[in-house]
Amino acid sequence: NVTPKLVIGNWKMNGLREASLQLATAVAEGARSLPDDVRMVICPPFTQLDRVAEALEGAGASLMLGAQDCHTAVSGAHTGDISAEMLADTGVRYVLLGHSERRQAHGENDALIRQKVQAAEAAGLIPVVCIGETMAERQDGRAATVLASQIDGSLTDNFNGVLAYEPVWAIGSGVTPSREELERTLLLLRGLLQSRLKMDDIRVPILYGGSVTPAQAPTILSIGVLGGVLVGSASLEARSFLRIAEAAS
Ligand code: G3H
Repeated sequence: NVTPKLVIGNWKMNGLREASLQLATAVAEGARSLPDDVRMVICPPFTQLDRVAEALEGAGASLMLGAQDCHTAVSGAHTGDISAEMLADTGVRYVLLGHSERRQAHGENDALIRQKVQAAEAAGLIPVVCIGETMAERQDGRAATVLASQIDGSLTDNFNGVLAYEPVWAIGSGVTPSREELERTLLLLRGLLQSRLKMDDIRVPILYGGSVTPAQAPTILSIGVLGGVLVGSASLEARSFLRIAEAAS
């Protein structure tokens, strides 16, 4: 039994009723012919979770529902927030946490993200923790330090979810790290995970995210240690998203 490569689509703040239904239905249709070694996940906005959950019914393990964030608490006086338990109740299996857009636009720090990871784990969800350095940090030669501190601060001690490496400079920019650079960073992340989780044999899949398109996907996904990809804009078009998933097999 091999661990399937994960191909996660983050719709971000995109998707009205009709378009969401059409997109999810088309992805579900295409995912039927995917081999067992690939698993797709769709993370629509909260407002479309129910609708997408229905479109995914019967898709089985090859296509699962994800969300883009959750609150640290189970319930209570948190206007505008959504708990991990609510997500699980809607059929969600994966939840993105600590995406750089939330770190930047909502001031989320590692300590808060770690609490969210705990909440997700308690609700039985699989947390997908996003980390990544900015262009300035990269140019200053601080990328490794930043990644180490994000891993230290945002993961739980028994973390058993997914890590997504998304260099902030690669998100939505059309620029990706070279294959060699990405491979080096993935090995670094593996070592950091080993020391953070005090385990020699790390089973946490490490994904790459940032301007993944059907054109580059085969090169990126040919890196053996890569656990899959986190796709933004290319996941908003069923054909592109499915082509990326095909490259993961
Ligand atoms: O969560 C997804 C990432 O932010 C990547 O977005 O594929 O549009 O660059 P992108």
